[in-house]
Amino acid sequence: MNKKITIAIDGFSSTGKSTVAKELAKELGYIYVDSGAMYRAITLFAMQEGFVGTRFFEVESLLEKLEAILVSFQLNPLTSNADMYLNGINVENEIRTLEVSNLVSTVAANSDVRKKLVAMQKEMGMHKGVVMDGRDIGTVVFKDAELKIFMNASADTRAERRYKELRNKGEEVSYQDILKNVVDRDFMDTTRDDSPLVKAVDAIEIDNSNLSRKEQFEMILKLVQEKLI
Ligand code: CDP
Repeated sequence: MNKKITIAIDGFSSTGKSTVAKELAKELGYIYVDSGAMYRAITLFAMQEGFVGTRFFEVESLLEKLEAILVSFQLNPLTSNADMYLNGINVENEIRTLEVSNLVSTVAANSDVRKKLVAMQKEMGMHKGVVMDGRDIGTVVFKDAELKIFMNASADTRAERRYKELRNKGEEVSYQDILKNVVDRDFMDTTRDDSPLVKAVDAIEIDNSNLSRKEQFEMILKLVQEKLI
């Protein structure tokens, strides 16, 4: 019983994809890849270089440097999670701020940025035994994934979750700003030309607005087990 599959989890912002993906990877002994962290890292780079801001995006300047940008995951022994590194520096905390969230969908809409990251993601999942979450995992990165999940929840529920998460980390954010970010990103991610967020035809949709973390985990684990028979 050593069959290994690929699990693709896509969905709207702050639907708790990464929470359940991490739990599944741990349970199954699979690799977990947070593809959003990679888009966030490129966005942070663009912000640090002054290539992107609220009212501007100097695409060409970013693209000139794109090939040289190093994004990688490295295991953090304290948390047992894979932290995101940008050019050799741990940026796990910096990429999660609302400032990055407000700019990431603009950067992620660029096709050259996507090409670079999708190639890396495909390589990470080459040997199966991977749980990857994002927006285009079941539709572009792993079209042949054995299990595809599409997660959803009401915008209010999602904003509330993200608000609590950032507040717990000590970030001074307002609920209204978070809600706006959630709604804006949903719009940008679903309407972009390249790899828009859309439910794959063979994905199973789960609305977790009224599910506990445990219920959601058990529901998806059962779906995995059915695929492993
Ligand atoms: O955790 P959250 O749901 O807030 O988002 P994320 O997974 O960290 O992704 C951040 C952003 O990266 C998304 O809003 C998308 O614009 C972009 N993204 C993408 O375009 N494709 C992916 N596979 C993953 C993320």
